[in-house]
Amino acid sequence: MILVTGGAGFIGSNLVDELLNQGHNVKVLDNLTTGRLENLSNASKSSKFKFYKGDLREFDREILKDVEIIFHLAAQIDVRKSIENPVYDMDINIRGSINLIQQAINSNVEKIIYSSSGGAIYGEPTNLPADENTNIKPISPYGASKFAVEGYLNAFGKIYGLKYTAMRYGNVYGRRQDPLGEAGVIAIFFGRASDNKNPVIFGDGNQTRDYVSVDDVVRANIAAVDKLKKYQEYNVGTGKETSVRELVTFMEKIFSKKITPVYEKERPGEVKRIYLDIKRLNDEINFKPDDVETGMKKVYEWMKDR
Ligand SMILES: NC(=O)c1ccc[n+]([C@@H]2O[C@H](COP(=O)([O-])OP(=O)(O)OC[C@H]3O[C@@H](n4cnc5c(N)ncnc54)[C@H](O)[C@@H]3O)[C@@H](O)[C@H]2O)c1
Repeated sequence: MILVTGGAGFIGSNLVDELLNQGHNVKVLDNLTTGRLENLSNASKSSKFKFYKGDLREFDREILKDVEIIFHLAAQIDVRKSIENPVYDMDINIRGSINLIQQAINSNVEKIIYSSSGGAIYGEPTNLPADENTNIKPISPYGASKFAVEGYLNAFGKIYGLKYTAMRYGNVYGRRQDPLGEAGVIAIFFGRASDNKNPVIFGDGNQTRDYVSVDDVVRANIAAVDKLKKYQEYNVGTGKETSVRELVTFMEKIFSKKITPVYEKERPGEVKRIYLDIKRLNDEINFKPDDVETGMKKVYEWMKDR
């Protein structure tokens, strides 16, 4: 039995669908702050699926009955909110995660596969692409809270023998990402383009990210159940950097129209350049992720179908 926390969210719901496809029994724990039941409409049709509305910080331990693996995705993911209210961010991301880990240990869960952030924990690395040995220097409370949980997992692993893998994602995009959310520039740009609105770029648009498709992120997560064995931390990206301006160029091709961005002041807590070295993942599972232009075309097709 597998538990996915945050399974009603963007990445979580895609993971749930694939786990069910592969024949697993899946439970979801989600408090529906940003997640939506609609994301689980396919999953809900399966007799192997069960949804529990509940909070990481306080949930009924019954939920963990028979659970062997936990994919832990539930989190406060908004960098700006983490700056405005770092105590709230800590409460969900750190306290909530510690509660989950402790309950998991009490319930004899074998392994936690944790969604961490390669885009946020390394800060502004001096060497790019950033590999997993890069110094941890987050420049937002969100980055700090995401990394803190890796520390707790390591400590609890040493004390109680709990197994874990930390998956450090780049900027994830794809099906079901909220076009009205605070994170997810590709979904936001696509949402605005389909409403004939100009995309808003914070800063000069030369900031770069490692954009990785949700399908590739799901694949890497599932590999963490029994294939990724050598390390406890894996970057999950494409190994390539793309600027926000380049995203606009790709969109012009996809939408076959001129797109003129509006520029606004850059936002604090956002790094200038980050992209991830994915050698570890590549060596172990021959990870060949979609490049961002190909991935964006797929998202566009999905959007059109809706
Ligand atoms: N989207 C990205 O680019 C990205 C990058 C790096 C890491 N991550 C990590 O991946 C995970 C999933 O992110 P996402 O983009 O799917 O975000 P999301 O907001 O769509 O998903 C988060 C889910 O967690 C749920 N949740 C929030 N607080 C909760 C709580 N206290 N108890 C129970 N459920 C709660 C939300 O309702 C939501 O369904 C997060 O841990 C995030 O930090 C995401």
